[in-house]
Amino acid sequence: MKVLVATEKPFAAVAVDGIRQVIEGAGYELELLEKYSSKADLLAAVADADGLIIRSDVVDKEVLDAAKQLKIVVRAGAGYDNVDLKEATAHNVVVENTPGQNSNAVAELVFGMAVMAARNMYNGTSGTELKDKAIGIHAFGQVGRNVARIAKGFGMEVSALDPYCPDEVIVEAGVKPVHDLKELYKNNKIVSLHIPATDETRKSVGYELVTLMPKNGILVNTARKEVIDEPGLIKALEERPDLKYVADIKPDAADEMTEKFAGRVFFTPKKMGAQTAEANINAGIAAARQTVAFLRDGIDKFKVNK
Ligand code: 3PG
Repeated sequence: MKVLVATEKPFAAVAVDGIRQVIEGAGYELELLEKYSSKADLLAAVADADGLIIRSDVVDKEVLDAAKQLKIVVRAGAGYDNVDLKEATAHNVVVENTPGQNSNAVAELVFGMAVMAARNMYNGTSGTELKDKAIGIHAFGQVGRNVARIAKGFGMEVSALDPYCPDEVIVEAGVKPVHDLKELYKNNKIVSLHIPATDETRKSVGYELVTLMPKNGILVNTARKEVIDEPGLIKALEERPDLKYVADIKPDAADEMTEKFAGRVFFTPKKMGAQTAEANINAGIAAARQTVAFLRDGIDKFKVNK
């Protein structure tokens, strides 16, 4: 049996070594397809794969049609909006993610970006500190919880909104639960986005919410570009020259925003949140173990498709 690791954005070499050990240790063949530039390469490589490990690589009907022997796709990471779950189910392919494995890496980047924005993108002018400022965490999943932990180290006031997370979990983490989205944006100088991209959340953060933010507010997006209503955000940044937007994902309107809001916006060239050796090792090896557990023993504990 063959397991294909297809990563347009490769894992650190040390993580690949660990993945290889797990896959080959179980007696399977490992094929690596890194930094591929055309979908045709993926379609060819996946043709005889029994298992597929990916990151943000898109797995759609075309890929699934080409993958005649595929039984499992493991997304080494949290968000699986890059995988067509319905098509996977229709093709009898199990889809899993590796929840929590890269969450500290993403949470650390939130603060890298928040400090950068608070210090005026390191342009030499006087900025502000994070201590005693309020941070609102929009969704209290694994990343949100790590953001809360680190925020407390900075001496920040921490609150969080998550309709899917019981208040007790939020309170137990020493965080104030918020139930009204508008309140979250109104009362926090920094808002950190951790919502997944779903039908419910796409384009859900825009003009209305962003303009509620207090003076000198900073919106940090290490989630997905799809959750932002870009025209709405642009309008908000035009009306409120005090606001900043920093994102670990290039918006579609990146050029326009960089030109219009120079010094107030920053975007990473590629998604960097989970791009650490530690996160690559954690998520990559978890993905390899989950792949083996399924192919060998039929265990599908982390299955996300019905
Ligand atoms: C995730 O959903 O796990 C993160 O966004 C990381 O994505 P990446 O593996 O493409 O860096």
